[in-house]
Formats: sequence, C-alpha cells, structure tokens
Amino acid sequence: MSQFLDVAIEIAREAGAILRPEFDRPKQISYKGEVDIVTESDRRSEALIVARLRKHYPDHAIIAEEGSGSAAAGAKYCWHVDPLDGTTNFAHGYPCFAVSIGLAEEGRPVAGVVFNPVSDEMFTAARGEGAYLNGKRIHVSPIEKLAYSLVATGFPTHQRKRSANINYYWEFTLRSHGVRRDGSAALDLCSVACGRFEAFWEFNLHSWDTAAGVLLVEEAGGRVTDMSGAPYELGGPQMLATNRRIHAEMQEVALIAERPATGS
Ligand code: IPD
Ligand code: CA
Ligand code: CA
Repeated sequence: MSQFLDVAIEIAREAGAILRPEFDRPKQISYKGEVDIVTESDRRSEALIVARLRKHYPDHAIIAEEGSGSAAAGAKYCWHVDPLDGTTNFAHGYPCFAVSIGLAEEGRPVAGVVFNPVSDEMFTAARGEGAYLNGKRIHVSPIEKLAYSLVATGFPTHQRKRSANINYYWEFTLRSHGVRRDGSAALDLCSVACGRFEAFWEFNLHSWDTAAGVLLVEEAGGRVTDMSGAPYELGGPQMLATNRRIHAEMQEVALIAERPATGS
C-alpha cells in the first residue's frame, strides 16, 4: 500500500503547488448549482491529478469531482479525487481548503492523502499502517464526553431547504463546547484524526470528499459509521466520524435531532 501512498503524496503536493499561488490571485467563479461554486483552479488541479494517476495506474478506475475521471472494466482499485475541497473558502480567500486523494480497493479505502497547501499540512494514511501529519503519527482525541468536545459539520450546496442539519447543529451546540462549520469535509475528517475535533458529521457527502479522510480517522483510532452505527459506505447518505469515545453519545443526540424534513 505504501507505494500507492507515496505516489498519491507526490501528486497531492503537485496539485497543491497549482492551488497555492492561485489562492492569492483574483478568481473567476462559475456556478454548478445555486451556491455550488467551481473555479478554474478546481479544473486545473483535477487535470493534473487525473493525468498523473492515469500514467501511473492505467488499469485503475478514477472518480473525480469535476468529471474527468474514467471507469476501468473490472478494476480492483478506484481513486476518489477531490481536486479542491473547500472551493467556497478558496473563492472567498479563506485559507481552509485541501486536495483529497483516496484509493479504495473493492470499495474499501486503503490509502489516502489530504493536503492543505496554505498550512503545508500533509495528512496521510495507509490501511493497517497508521495515520500521519507531516510524517508524525497522529491519534484521535482522548476526550470521553460530548460536553467537553469541539465538533464539526457541513451543510449542502444543493437542495438546502431539504436539509434537516440545522436541527442537529442546534442540538449539538447545546451539548458541546461548540460546532464548527469550516467548509472542507476532508479537512474536518483530518481534524478528527489528529484530535482537534472529537467528531464530525454531515449528510450526502460524495466519495471524493471522504475516501481519504475516513481512512485517516480509522487509522488514527477513530470510528466512522452512519448515524445508526451501521458501517459507512463511500458516498452513503450519512456520516458520523468520531474519536470512538463519544460515538454512542453522538448517536443518542442525533436521535433527538431527527425531525421530518421541511420545505422543498
Ligand atoms: C464541500 C465541502 C464542504 C461540505 C460540502 C462539500 P467542495 O466540497 O467539503 O465542507 O459541507 O458538502 O460539497 O464543493 O468544496 O469540494
Ligand atoms: Ca468536496
Ligand atoms: Ca471540490
């Protein structure tokens, strides 16, 4: 696995080198949905990542957010690529975004890299080999209670009125040190992995948002499921990632927060 990881690290660093100077320049944005932004930087980063992965692994499948990936019949391995996670932050000059590259073997994440080119933080993990930040081993937080925890979530850019997440936000805010909404699911997962957050939850994330981050949390000693505690599947409708210790408590509060969706 470490050979795949080394290649992913090298590619994430190259993509970060595209994004970093572009972050300081004025951006041209266009819209994929009401508030779903895309920039030329998303496309340039993706073009580089996909080209490099194809060259290294022509028989692997690639799923990439901006659509330039490719299927490979019967492929055992599939790369899940978010060339710029946190595009809204990037477009507004808020320095919280990352390149996320995850490799899944028959649907199960086995290698993952999340790189923030502004803080120069490279989060890496390979199945069974631990999670690392800039080469140093990382672990989830030892905190045992939601009341002493800092947690995080995100809100969708599509069908915003259908999301009941504001109810969850409210219930978790009342029971914790606070809920952060930082705008990059990949980095939120890394923050759980390295103990900055005790938990992160979100609905309707895509496989490119989570493939690398899920592995980072698990390899750092955390737990990732859906809200009911069933195994999280890449691209599944619910994700709950925690330091393991507050997982059951998060699930209990999620039950309280569950309300029928309103609006359209
Ligand atoms: C988004 C970010 C955000 C999350 C959204 C994602 P993008 O990804 O991860 O934190 O709340 O659900 O779509 O569009 O910036 O790649
Ligand atoms: Ca994303
Ligand atoms: Ca993206």
